[in-house]
Amino acid sequence: MHKITVVGAGHVGATAAQRLAERELAEEIVLIDVVEGIPQGKGLDMWETAPVEGFDSRVIGTNDYGPAAGSGIFIVTAGIARKPGMTRDDLLKTNAGIVKSVSEEIKQCAPDAIVIVVSNPLDVMAWVAKEVTGFPRERVIGMAGVLDTARYRSFLAEAIDVSVEDIQAMVLGGHGDTMVPLVSYTTVSGIPITQLIDRKKLDEIIERTRKGGAEIVAHLKTGSAYYAPSAAAVQMAESIVKNKRRILPCAAWLEGEFGLEGIYLGVPCKLGASGLEAIIEVELNSKEQIALNKSAEHVRETMSAVSL
Ligand code: LAC
Repeated sequence: MHKITVVGAGHVGATAAQRLAERELAEEIVLIDVVEGIPQGKGLDMWETAPVEGFDSRVIGTNDYGPAAGSGIFIVTAGIARKPGMTRDDLLKTNAGIVKSVSEEIKQCAPDAIVIVVSNPLDVMAWVAKEVTGFPRERVIGMAGVLDTARYRSFLAEAIDVSVEDIQAMVLGGHGDTMVPLVSYTTVSGIPITQLIDRKKLDEIIERTRKGGAEIVAHLKTGSAYYAPSAAAVQMAESIVKNKRRILPCAAWLEGEFGLEGIYLGVPCKLGASGLEAIIEVELNSKEQIALNKSAEHVRETMSAVSL
């Protein structure tokens, strides 16, 4: 891919840009932020790692969207992050305004781009980006499920003492306390997880996964997680750039899938060169469907507090 732009040069955005560059996922990685000097300084510093790390992706930091023109992918991380005691929804008004203005810029400078939204509250910000750009749902996707699933897989791998690579899982629903880890689709090299861990321990891990973001905020105190969120966003970008057609849990605009519509929610998605290529409607048991509906209700309530 010729160009990928990361909007927001905070911890998530800068770390994402670094990962993109180190994997040479585009010839140019553009890092944009409103704060003068930060994207320029971080971008230059990052590019100066190229001879050591051995990559030829050119990293460019900027305050304006000129250098982003024609980008194939935008990763939108702009917005404020949580502090201890805040929920993702507390960020709503501020971040809706920021994501709105970023989306207007994207629409102007790269009308064919695929947008990966990372700003919180995630499901609602993905909707703001879709509404404001006017892009089809294939080209506006939210990052959350890969992150939530990565946390779940890490905790499971530790608990049963196996490689993280052998844990396959899906966490669906909104990116918040109502997220829905699917136990029936959690396996270790194909072995159902329930054969390897007792139910009580599994429930504890599910609860820890739901609160995974808050656990990091409580440690950091000055902000929220960024290593795992940036890794998750870049995995989605990689599947698009390389047309891998990976099936990853992402926030997608639903048009009747899982009995839900007019809402962004985490569901299994196939990501390839054209963006969201399919939503995989896996079978859910009634408990899981009820949990997904509840999560959808929460996202809808948050959406209703935003006027575009
Ligand atoms: C988290 C924030 C970034 O889950 O939403 O860590």
